[in-house]
Amino acid sequence: MSQGQSNERIADTIGVHWREEEVIRPPEDFVAQANMADPDIFKRMSEAHFPDCFDEYARLLDWSREWDRTLDDSNPPFFKWFVGGELNASVNCIDRHLEKAAERVAWHFIPESEEEAHEALSYGELSRRVNELASVLREDCGLECGDRVTLYLPMTLELPIAMLACARLGVIHSGVFSGYSGAACAERIVDSQSRVLITMDAYRRGGKLLDHKVKADEAAEKAQAAGCPIERMLVFSRYPGQYNSEAPMKEGRDLDANALVRNRAGATVAPQAMRAEDTLFLMYTSGTTGKPKGAQHSVGGYLAWVAATSKYVLDIKPEDTYWCMADIGWITGHSYIVYGPLALGTTSILYEGAPTTPDAGRPWRIAEQYGVNLFHTSPTAVRALRRADPELPKQFDLKFRAMTTVGEPIEPEAWRWYFEAIGHGRAVITDTWWQTENGGHLISTLPALHAMKPGSAGPALPGIHPVIFDEEGEAIPAGSGKAGNLCIRNPWPGRMLSIWGDDERFVKTYYARYNHDPKSRDWRDWPYLAGDGAVQSEDGFYRILGRIDDVINVAGHRLGTKELESACLTVAGVSEAAVVGVSDEVKGVQPEAFIALVDGAAPEKVVDAVKTSVTERIGPIARLRRVHVVPDLPKTRSGKIMRRILVALAEKRDPGNVATLANPEIVEAIHKQLAS
Ligand code: WTA
Repeated sequence: MSQGQSNERIADTIGVHWREEEVIRPPEDFVAQANMADPDIFKRMSEAHFPDCFDEYARLLDWSREWDRTLDDSNPPFFKWFVGGELNASVNCIDRHLEKAAERVAWHFIPESEEEAHEALSYGELSRRVNELASVLREDCGLECGDRVTLYLPMTLELPIAMLACARLGVIHSGVFSGYSGAACAERIVDSQSRVLITMDAYRRGGKLLDHKVKADEAAEKAQAAGCPIERMLVFSRYPGQYNSEAPMKEGRDLDANALVRNRAGATVAPQAMRAEDTLFLMYTSGTTGKPKGAQHSVGGYLAWVAATSKYVLDIKPEDTYWCMADIGWITGHSYIVYGPLALGTTSILYEGAPTTPDAGRPWRIAEQYGVNLFHTSPTAVRALRRADPELPKQFDLKFRAMTTVGEPIEPEAWRWYFEAIGHGRAVITDTWWQTENGGHLISTLPALHAMKPGSAGPALPGIHPVIFDEEGEAIPAGSGKAGNLCIRNPWPGRMLSIWGDDERFVKTYYARYNHDPKSRDWRDWPYLAGDGAVQSEDGFYRILGRIDDVINVAGHRLGTKELESACLTVAGVSEAAVVGVSDEVKGVQPEAFIALVDGAAPEKVVDAVKTSVTERIGPIARLRRVHVVPDLPKTRSGKIMRRILVALAEKRDPGNVATLANPEIVEAIHKQLAS
């Protein structure tokens, strides 16, 4: 296949259609105060200084023992950073700030209901609550360093407190997004072999008090059925003193977490010294096969990476008030609500609810009240707020100095609105590209050192050396503007250690594609495959084009199409299913299913059952917008379902040349069906 053809194929799968834009320089007063305004950083972190250049990032942390070696690369692609070094993440996020800043607010917790009181939690109080919960985990649950605990908690203070309590003991936390179904939580409990689940009775979202313990029970039951019983379920009360769940507390298993913590009032727990390359947490993410992968993140490398990127990309300073609207149940929340900002000792907002509850003015009322000056959100939220009322933010006294987006490409029009209506043309914007597997930002502007270009994430961060390969493994010339597969040539400290329990899948997923010599001990032979298409323009900026694998990005949430398809296939009457991401004005893409039925199945019944099955098995974030019952699915001669043709048909675009399919006539049939 010629390079032209292969690149067309990559370009085919992309969701980004805009052109290169003019650049906008950062305001001078931003540059004058920025944490990183020294252009020398690119020299210091150039390839010639790899890997020792990353010591600079590790020095942002407190170590109980200095590292002996920056990088152990003797067993690629299992790289170990800061070897010999020892530290504890909770010490870096809490204890080290106490001497000077025990009174400083770590988080302002803001309940979704505007009737309820806010809570300001100082670093001193955070320390107390983390120690007390760590004591509960050790004394009442018998947890030890290296054990896994699943956290199935909403956006309340208990979630970061639980993470830090685990980190203090060296217990590995595995956070599951509270919007996931009980079944999805069970799968993650089983894979991580957690014996303890920490959860909450209920929480508020979208104006409703949602029963959460019911889902936690379902998770525990399903995990037990799969051979992994939950021995202890710690249940916090959203409103202490009340119990807002239909699900009873189960004797012998469920424990009232608020009471246990009260019993341990004033307890202190010595932090466990961890090796840099030990595991801090697991974060499950979707891949090309049905089973979610547990991205296994390290203590030292990860923490150094999120601290450095929070400082240099987000420009966080201790005296700031920072608000990231993501959910802590995702990697963005782990890295840029909890670990990064706390490592720098700043004050953050922790908001329980949906950004548009009760109306689209909510984020701006919160920002105004607390004088938030750093803001971080997703393109989906930007689009939704713009659609709700583009003029609204102008009525507020917003004082953002820097703003960030993450999770999806942002269209230049939405970017400009963000810049003008929300940033008042004064705030710098960073469009940060990275993935669950990466720990933190990899591609972004450094806001004082680069101009901004709407719709382009930016150049690689210092110390990150990307390459774009074509389908055959030839590097596409840098700056050529041609589409290909984005890879990172070098290891970096924030990268995951492995996929939990599956080293082979780790190598296969991220490295097999472009590694030509599995025995090579040279890191240069191990480019990391990101799974995104990208182009690099002449000025070195990357535009991310979207996933090249069977992953779709719905409102910035990563969903594996295989997971959705297997949920469709559990419904009696479905013989085949293909799920694709179809463009959506607000959410970027929305999933739609194409299903073929077995003879005699009743289409309406099956369609309803398919929709229900997907929300029950995965959660409301995966809700199918439409389900199309079709006579057959377009397939190649080798039987592979051609999803990109289905996407084109659903978006009413030309599906291109279909002559090589095994069943080309089906394309016309589906086209007619969708037009009618
Ligand atoms: C996409 C979220 C364009 C990309 C931190 C990636 C982006 C996937 C951007 C990872 C961006 C993330 N511009 N696309 N700035 N940031 N993506 O693992 O497709 O939930 O592979 O991590 O989101 O999603 P994940």
